[in-house]
Amino acid sequence: MCGIVGYIGHRDAYPIIIKGLQRLEYRGYDSAGIALYDGSHINLSKTKGKVTDLENKSKSSISMSGNLGIGHTRWATHGVPNDVNSHPHYSNSGDLVIIHNGIIENYESLKKELGKRGYSFTSDTDTEVLVNLIEEVQKSEGVLLGQAVQIALNQAVGAYAIAVFDKKKPDEIVVAKLGSPLAIGIGENEFFVASDASPFIEFTNNAVYLEDGEMAIVRLGKEIKLRKIQNDAIAYPNILELQMNLEEIEKGGYDHFMLKEIYEQPRAILDTYRGRLLPDQGIIKMTGIDQNLEKFLNANKIIIVACGTSWHAGLVAEYIFEDLARIPVEVEYASEFRYRNPVITEKDVLIAISQSGETADTLAAIKMAKEKGAFVYGVCNVVGSSISRETDSGTYTHAGPEIGVASTKAFTTQITVLTLMALKLAKEKGEFSESRFHEYLTELETIPAKVEKALESNTLVEIIADVYKHSTNCLYLGRGYNFPVALEGALKLKEISYIHAEGYPAAEMKHGPIALIDEQMPVIVIATKKGHYEKVVSNIQEIKSRKGKIIAIVTEGDEQVVDLADHVIEVPETIESFTPLLTTIPLQLLSYHIAVMRDCNVDQPRNLAKSVTVE
Ligand code: AGP
Repeated sequence: MCGIVGYIGHRDAYPIIIKGLQRLEYRGYDSAGIALYDGSHINLSKTKGKVTDLENKSKSSISMSGNLGIGHTRWATHGVPNDVNSHPHYSNSGDLVIIHNGIIENYESLKKELGKRGYSFTSDTDTEVLVNLIEEVQKSEGVLLGQAVQIALNQAVGAYAIAVFDKKKPDEIVVAKLGSPLAIGIGENEFFVASDASPFIEFTNNAVYLEDGEMAIVRLGKEIKLRKIQNDAIAYPNILELQMNLEEIEKGGYDHFMLKEIYEQPRAILDTYRGRLLPDQGIIKMTGIDQNLEKFLNANKIIIVACGTSWHAGLVAEYIFEDLARIPVEVEYASEFRYRNPVITEKDVLIAISQSGETADTLAAIKMAKEKGAFVYGVCNVVGSSISRETDSGTYTHAGPEIGVASTKAFTTQITVLTLMALKLAKEKGEFSESRFHEYLTELETIPAKVEKALESNTLVEIIADVYKHSTNCLYLGRGYNFPVALEGALKLKEISYIHAEGYPAAEMKHGPIALIDEQMPVIVIATKKGHYEKVVSNIQEIKSRKGKIIAIVTEGDEQVVDLADHVIEVPETIESFTPLLTTIPLQLLSYHIAVMRDCNVDQPRNLAKSVTVE
């Protein structure tokens, strides 16, 4: 997720763009850049680091005059964060500059084709390929920028929000949207384009939000021209008068970043498997696995190290890898693993899971494993983070920045990556037939829509939260794939509402925790139809007979638990291995609403940091 800003009008573009980028840093902040047209030249400055680093560099490197410009704050997906990979990107001629938020999945084939036509590239990004494709179309078809963008985008596959201008025609900016947000601010003889309204809300509250598959040419002194990218049909701008303030815009209209990120999960899961999950071709494409396949297939065992929520994702992975790929897996707390004397050999593969990529214990565990000869694979959300650089290879989640301290979309995108890895290895090992593999791939593709459906329980969850917000203890129970989800649900409640909560395997209840059950103890039980449903139902009956209060997470249409539980929250049916991606949703919402009702600081809970970079 990156931030894009553009301006054309009667004011100086530089201060508007820089301030706009600062407001969009919540969308990404590993590098930033700006390009300004001063009446004869394009002046471009870009750097690894934050917008303040860009300001310092620009002041000493470029002319900051001009009333046309674009700017970008990056959250890397292709190419590590550095000056060269930062946006904006020039076309080879230097006439065009572009900024882009999204992923062009077929950029490698486009790059190869452009290379044959004499184009060269300085960066590793998909964006630089796109701007040169636009230039190539402009030249070969003899068309203006707007048409060239449209033709080029019909050759691109993926998601984008782009802004591009041509110094040969400096009275316009061309923008286009598919899968990433793009808003146009309409002022008096001036236009703003941005990822959201925060860069221009102080200048105008008249805005047009492009729909997917739309593009626009914003030209001084003219009405906005909207087009459908696919067929050039005219689209009519729906001009809104915004009432949101700055803070509301940054949070996408949600009260907290955590709720925004819970609701971003369908998109985050889709972005994470985009370009990797290819059911039509019957393949899963993961460069990191492809390049190290033998290490995984010949591994004695896989050791997963992580902390907190990432450790819970590792526990889910243990079930997935052993169940589907039949590879032995051990899951370790990184903080324990690094200090004991574990048995690791060069025949072992270590998978390190970390949202931030900076967790000290996980980093130390990686270093120890490498010293003992193990191959280390990273699953991180931050491109270029310490862990991603320390590991031998890896796969990034594409969750975008996670601002809330409580991990939500990181958890579900980590599970998505780990599921793709396990399915790919299962197929390579011959554990899966073609038909079963295809069944899993097509079902995995339905998960974003099923997460959307699970999110519809929010109102019901809020009602349940109101009943239990004064609880002092909570028990979370799950079996099989949903045991780690019970642990994760308990962690969420603990860390943002400060209520003590424990997650347990449902069958373990009779070995102690059942002594805790009374009318004051809410018990959250994950009782989805797959796996050991009947056994969980009998656990629920044991709780009920001791007057425990039961909140059950069930598969939609359940007819048994509904007669036993005090509250029932439904999630859509799916393959057993994928249920954690759905059952975690109501638990995230429950902890969120209880924390809000207890006036806790949801996004920055007491005593906690987003990334634990110290021991
Ligand atoms: C989870 O909600 C917490 N934010 C915390 O447990 C977190 O998962 C843990 O600190 C690990 O962080 P990482 O994924 O960035 O390594």
